[in-house]
Amino acid sequence: MPAVPVWPLVRPPLFRLDPEAAHGIAMRSLRAVQAVPPLAAALRRRFLVDAPALERTLFGRELLNPVGLAAGFDKDAVAVRGLAALGFGCVEIGTVTPQPQAGNPRPRLFRYSADASLQNAMGFNNAGLAEVRARLARLHPAPLPVGVNVGKNKDTPPEAALADYEALIRAFAGLCDYLVVNVSSPNTPGLRDLQNEVFLRSLLRSATGITDRPVLVKIAPDLELAEAVRLAEVAVDAGAAGIVATNTTNDYALLPGARHFGGGLSGRVLQEKSFRVFDAVARRLFGRAVLVSVGGIGSGAEAYRRLRAGADLVQVYTALVYQGPSLVRRINEELLELMERDGAKSLGEVIGADR
Ligand SMILES: Cc1cc2nc3c(=O)[nH]c(=O)nc-3n(C[C@H](O)[C@H](O)[C@H](O)COP(=O)(O)O)c2cc1C
Repeated sequence: MPAVPVWPLVRPPLFRLDPEAAHGIAMRSLRAVQAVPPLAAALRRRFLVDAPALERTLFGRELLNPVGLAAGFDKDAVAVRGLAALGFGCVEIGTVTPQPQAGNPRPRLFRYSADASLQNAMGFNNAGLAEVRARLARLHPAPLPVGVNVGKNKDTPPEAALADYEALIRAFAGLCDYLVVNVSSPNTPGLRDLQNEVFLRSLLRSATGITDRPVLVKIAPDLELAEAVRLAEVAVDAGAAGIVATNTTNDYALLPGARHFGGGLSGRVLQEKSFRVFDAVARRLFGRAVLVSVGGIGSGAEAYRRLRAGADLVQVYTALVYQGPSLVRRINEELLELMERDGAKSLGEVIGADR
């Protein structure tokens, strides 16, 4: 397939649309791609960086590169094959809740293009456990490692939250490579209150009784650093296989002009804050847990910084919106250049090099 730069032509009209409508078009395009396997294969040849130096084993599976798609892009697992064609090393679907949920009223997603950032208050809009489980079962065997991110329904009271997570873990454990318990979205009232020692301990003890698949905990960037580290350690001590840091932030001071309506900021404005939280967690847990860094990553240099700080995997979302489908290839090519510059022959020599 000729490497015509399509994105510069596609982005302007897409960006004239409401962000959620644009996302809908992106998802329909990915579904169209995956419906034509030779097209998906051709795109994959174009976007997947084929380099043994980027490969490694994680969650008991071969990852072709350390760049994953963050949760929330493909909440219902409708486009996993299309996303594989964009060259990702793995994909995290969800957040999935037990019951289907419409999410918050629109508009609930906003662009801040000058800052390459987004603000969202989606509120876990998703098709629900039964439908997503059926879809994942049909996907089997998935073309790349798949994680499932799970969360409680909005109208589930706090005392029933544990049961929501247990039902989700039970349903998805056999259909994915890893699970993420999301207790850090700012858009479900009370959800972040679950980021406490008592809840995390009982959740992880229960989860490890249900499955031996890796269960990770996704944390917010808005915790005090010491608190983030303490909670991450509590989770790992209670059986979490790892930590995903971070979710979006509601620190609106990071973006003058942000809407003060409760939605979370992502993208470039989140980069340093997310790095600081990840770095603090990694200092404590590197070597003891799988560490996933997400938040404001949009270049190979930033991905490299996270890997050196101890990330086993980096994830992207907002940069994909701004930079388009060649983002993953670009990050991986830059990673290879940086590794060559530093004389690193494999990711194993990069990950945690700064620890
Ligand atoms: C529109 C949107 C929806 C999101 N939905 C979810 C979600 O359902 N579950 C989740 O754990 N994170 C969700 N996230 C957070 C991302 O997974 C990621 O943690 C965050 O955006 C920071 O990464 P980024 O700066 O690369 O976007 C969402 C982010 C955006 C922008």
